This record gives sequence, structure tokens and C-alpha cells, in this order.
Amino acid sequence: MKHTKVIDLLNSTKTLHEVTAKGWVRTFRNNQFIALNDGSTINNIQCVVDFENTPEETLKRITTGAAVSVTGILQESQGKGQSVEIQVTKIKILGDSNPEEYPIQPKKHSLEFLRENAHLRVRTNAFGAIMRVRSVLSFAVHNYFQEKGFVYVNTPIITGSDAEGAGEMFKVTALPFDKTPRTEEGNVNYKEDFFGKETNLTVSGQLEAETYAMALGQVYTFGPTFRAENSNTSRHLAEFWMIEPEVAFNDLDANMDLAEDFIQNVIKYTIDKCGDDLAFLEQRLLDEEKSKPQADRSEMSLLQKLNFVLENNFKRVSYTEAIDILRNSTPNKKGKFNYIIKEWGADLQSEHERYLVEKHFKCPVILFDYPANIKAFYMRLNDNTEPGKETVRAMDILFPGIGEIVGGSQREERYDVLVKKMHALGIEEEELWWYLDTRKFGSAVHSGFGLGFERLVLFVTGMSNIRDVIPFPRTPQNAEF
Ligand code: 4AD
Ligand code: MG
Repeated sequence: MKHTKVIDLLNSTKTLHEVTAKGWVRTFRNNQFIALNDGSTINNIQCVVDFENTPEETLKRITTGAAVSVTGILQESQGKGQSVEIQVTKIKILGDSNPEEYPIQPKKHSLEFLRENAHLRVRTNAFGAIMRVRSVLSFAVHNYFQEKGFVYVNTPIITGSDAEGAGEMFKVTALPFDKTPRTEEGNVNYKEDFFGKETNLTVSGQLEAETYAMALGQVYTFGPTFRAENSNTSRHLAEFWMIEPEVAFNDLDANMDLAEDFIQNVIKYTIDKCGDDLAFLEQRLLDEEKSKPQADRSEMSLLQKLNFVLENNFKRVSYTEAIDILRNSTPNKKGKFNYIIKEWGADLQSEHERYLVEKHFKCPVILFDYPANIKAFYMRLNDNTEPGKETVRAMDILFPGIGEIVGGSQREERYDVLVKKMHALGIEEEELWWYLDTRKFGSAVHSGFGLGFERLVLFVTGMSNIRDVIPFPRTPQNAEF
């Protein structure tokens, strides 16, 4: 018999007919009640086993984690907590799960323990909910851009350029480690490597996306990116997914408008589609907050936080204004920041970003017009900036609890200015000849940004460690699974 998904059974208005459900046993109570979950929803369907007419052998095999097929009559539930249940007439154990060995017991496990069991943690309520929300969010991303006529571009994973100029790249090579070919000067001879040149995993698809925006107008990427930065924090992954829209003829203001509208739209979409999962995650967060001192607890619930972002404009503040605020802030004056802000030009650390968002403005913030020398080479130099205090048309979006969620800019469209900037930073023209071509042939104002997908998932799910919102996290010293 064809089986029906649990979500459809729970939503069905018709009862008293025979159905089959397949899934994994979450709990088995009183030798009678199976809570069955198949991943289609956070909710389990209760299956009532006729234990008097079921062989003892079979009952013993109904254990947490076992895969079962259950056939019976769908009926209105007598018990509380569910509308329908299955009165079981036939049960088949599809895959046993030895309770002595199965790590995911029906009790609260720590997130650390679950990370070590990332292949099984998705069988818990929390991770099922997180991964369904992640899936819906990624669909929302495509939906948003597709409805606006953006073209989805797949930029290369293996590249020969360093888009961010930060040098935090994983090398890609087919050369043997023990017998690396050398040039006469003693350097590694990449001419003998697979691609005949030095290559790495991409840190961003932006530069390639820009070339496509200069033909297709509005484009976006959504793919994996890699950073070999040794940041062991709850906000950094070595492999993460980034969404990078790039739009011809957009200036920085239009770029900020797009980013804000985009974030609000995908959150709205997800609230509408993921009611049950978000309700669960909201409760999970409330429970977690209970273990914190009152002062550290959030004033808002998860859904209040999400709705707050939808209902309020992001506060737009220039870097210069932000520095003034930070310099005069209590934690700066009292030496509470790890990095004390002394003067204009300082790079902002996440403690500063979070102060601005969480303590000062208490809403999402877009910082713009950063000092040129703390930002990447491709950002457009502002027209009337003081010598020594040059700023670029950059913008970062900062979110409560997250810090930077988006980084973007208007791009330097002037060939001469761009080349000068590259020279100053020691970037070879030959390395980016193709990028420079876009400034030679039909150059135009254009802008874009990158949103770290996992940081968005963190915000929407209310989780606090980025390792918990991607199925198999890649971080320093960890590439298990
Ligand atoms: O600010 P970033 O480095 O900007 C770029 O890569 C630009 N090329 C984007 C563009 O303009 N098209 O990275 C963009 C975003 C950050 O704001 C952050 O959300 C996320 O990517 N991000 C990370 N997320 C997880 N782990 C990491 N190690 C991340 N590094 C950046
Ligand atoms: Mg950034």
C-alpha cells in the first residue's frame, strides 16, 4: 500500500479509512503509543498499537530511532494533543535501532553532543525544524530574485583570483606534496599543475557576477564559498553559502534598498510557510533563555524579533557617525571593548557592530561610506573625500545577535581609478585583465552585495552557533562527515 506523509495525515479532514505511514519512532509509550515522525513536519502522528494482538517480539523492536511502516485506520484521537491518530492493524519494522547504541535518546541533548552526531541530529525536533526553515529560506531567495527578473548565475568554485584580496584561500592543486616541481628560483612551478596556474577555492563569486551584470543587468549567485580564516567563532564557517546579487546602474542607495527589501521579503515568506517550525524554535529559545541571568535575556521572542525586522526600516548610518557614537560610548570610555576605538579609520570589530545594533540603535543598521583602506579594492571611491580620509561606497548590514549579515558596495566603474587602486595594493593587472575589460568596454555604475546565508538562517531560527544551521559544518580542525 502506498504510504501517506505524516503532514498530510495530520491535515486530513477525512477519517475512518485505512492509511499507511512510514517513518522513525520518536517514542514508544506504555507498549501502546508510537510517536511517529517522517520529517515532513515537526509534528508526530500518534499510532496506537493493539499490544494484546501484537507479538512480543515485534513490540520489543519498536524502539526510538527504528524505521517502521504502520498501517491502520485514521481516526479522530481520543487523547489530548493531536486531532487524528492511527489505530494500527499492521506494523512492520523496516530497520531496527538498538536502544543500547542509538545516541539520540528521547531526552534533551546538548548542542555540542549533537554536533558530534551531525548525521543523526537532524532526527531531533530542533534540527528537523532548522533544516526545513533553511530549505524554505533558500527557496525564498530564488523566488525573490526570479520574480524580479534577476538571472541566476553559477560562478566558478575553482578560481585563479582572490576576489576579496584578503588572502584567506584554500589552495586547489593536483601537484604531489613530496615532489613539487620548482622553478629555477625555487618557487613552486604552477605551470606544471592541473590548470597551469595557481588556483584556489572561491571566497566570493562577485567579480565574475559583475561581468554578467554588465550584460544581463540584474544577476545573483547562490553558492558555496570558502575561507581559510582561522576564526573559531560562532559566526564563521570555512565553507558557507553566499548570495550575491549584482545590478547594473544601481548606486549605493539603490543597493541598500535592494538588500533591505530582499531580507524583509525572505523572512516574511519563511514566517508564512514555517509556522509550526518557528513556533517550536521560539519555544526552544525561550527555554534556553531561562538558563541565562535576567539581564542577558532577550526582550523579544523569536517571532517578535522577526516581525520587528519586517516592520522597521533599517537605520542608515555613515561610518563617520558610527565612530563618533562608539568613541563616546560607555564601554569604550570604560575600557570594556577588547579593541578601544581611538580614531577615525579604525576597523570595526564585531563587539562594536553589536554595540551599535543591540545597545545604541536597537534595530538593524546599515553602515556606509567606510574608510577606503579597510575595504576591498573594487569599491567605488567617494567623489569628494579629504586626502588621507578617503572613503568608499561600501555598506555593511548589521543585525542584532549576529553582527554583519551583509557586506556590499557600489563598484569602482572608472578604469583609471581602479587600476591605480590595484597598483597601490600590489594586485597585478594581468591577473584581473578580464575584470578590467568590463571597465574598458561599456562600463557603468553598478552595485551588489553578499549575504552570508548561514547568518540569515541563524537569525531566523534564533540559534546562536553557526555550526547548528548548516548540515555538516566545516570549521578549523573539523571536517568530519
Ligand atoms: O563581507 P564579505 O567578505 O563580502 C564579500 O565577499 C563581497 N564579495 C560580497 C559582495 O559584495 N558581493 O562577505 C559577505 C557576507 C558577510 O557579510 C557575512 O554575512 C558572510 O558573507 N560571511 C561569512 N559567513 C560565514 N562564515 C564566514 N567565514 C563568513 N565570511 C563572510
Ligand atoms: Mg564584510
